[in-house]
Amino acid sequence: MSKPKVFVTREIPQAGLQVLSQHFNVEVWPHYAPPTKTQLVEKISDCEAMISLLSDKIDAEVFAAAPKLKIIAQYAVGYDNIDVQEASRRNIRVTNTPEVLTDSSADFAFAQLMAVARRVVEADRYVRNGQWQVAWHPSMMLGYDIHAATIGIIGAGRIGQAVARRAQGFSMKILYYSSSAKSEFERKTGAQRVELDTLLREADFVSLHVPLTASTRNLINAEKLALMKRTAFLINNSRGPVVDEKALYEALKAGNIAGAALDVFAGEPTPADNPLLTLDNVVVAPHISSASHATRARMAEMVAENLVAFFAGKEPPDLINPEAFKLNK
Ligand code: GLV
Ligand code: GLV
Repeated sequence: MSKPKVFVTREIPQAGLQVLSQHFNVEVWPHYAPPTKTQLVEKISDCEAMISLLSDKIDAEVFAAAPKLKIIAQYAVGYDNIDVQEASRRNIRVTNTPEVLTDSSADFAFAQLMAVARRVVEADRYVRNGQWQVAWHPSMMLGYDIHAATIGIIGAGRIGQAVARRAQGFSMKILYYSSSAKSEFERKTGAQRVELDTLLREADFVSLHVPLTASTRNLINAEKLALMKRTAFLINNSRGPVVDEKALYEALKAGNIAGAALDVFAGEPTPADNPLLTLDNVVVAPHISSASHATRARMAEMVAENLVAFFAGKEPPDLINPEAFKLNK
């Protein structure tokens, strides 16, 4: 029997490629930049499986071009780039990489939180630019304390909860907003469930950990930003479109909030002339929250494991659309 053909839309760590090459006929897109839609459609025309990244838009047009496609293993926890409903309708399984990246993503959210509150990046620029002309001054580069502040976690899934555990270590008061109460989480961290508006009014740090869906798109708009304290910070390492970027810029510029730390943007890559980048109280990164050597290697193993399980006739461990099995039976 010939091996099933898999298209991998970018080079993922060897840990995964090695496993894949034992079981599949693997083609990896060799360039740093993604294939265009036309190239992608051509590449997957005879593939039974695909490994996608969050920057690959996988829609009906792609599915239509891949009649043999049975499974897509997404190399990310979020999968808003994939039309999952359409995949299910076509009996195509979709898997993701949850859990392995939880702590790395939470580490980075916390790193950005600390960086913006204590002006770490701004201070680095200050020294390098030769602005450090006076050895020490009582009012040089004042920031805001992290310890004992209130953090408001929007979306208490795995990553939100991992951020809360870090906040505990800084003696922070923890508020959370979630569609359901998480009693175990509350018991372990002392987190308190509150309404969204209450969280926004009371938190010193508002940290976003929701997936992008129709109900979270523009969740943080001008009206919500207006509820935040003038001394509060917004941290976003979920998905860019959860925040209305223009409204965020206005709020920052007017001094209605103290700062923002962003790992994600409305469009990625964000253009170098994004007005947010002109503000000193904004810390930015190019969507790298899960980017540790160990986590990216583990994610690569996971996408491979999902494909191997599926082609061995088992349910893939990280299947996100079990309905794909039922619909067409
Ligand atoms: C990263 O943003 C992911 O969804 O894994
Ligand atoms: C995010 O998707 C999570 O696992 O919290």
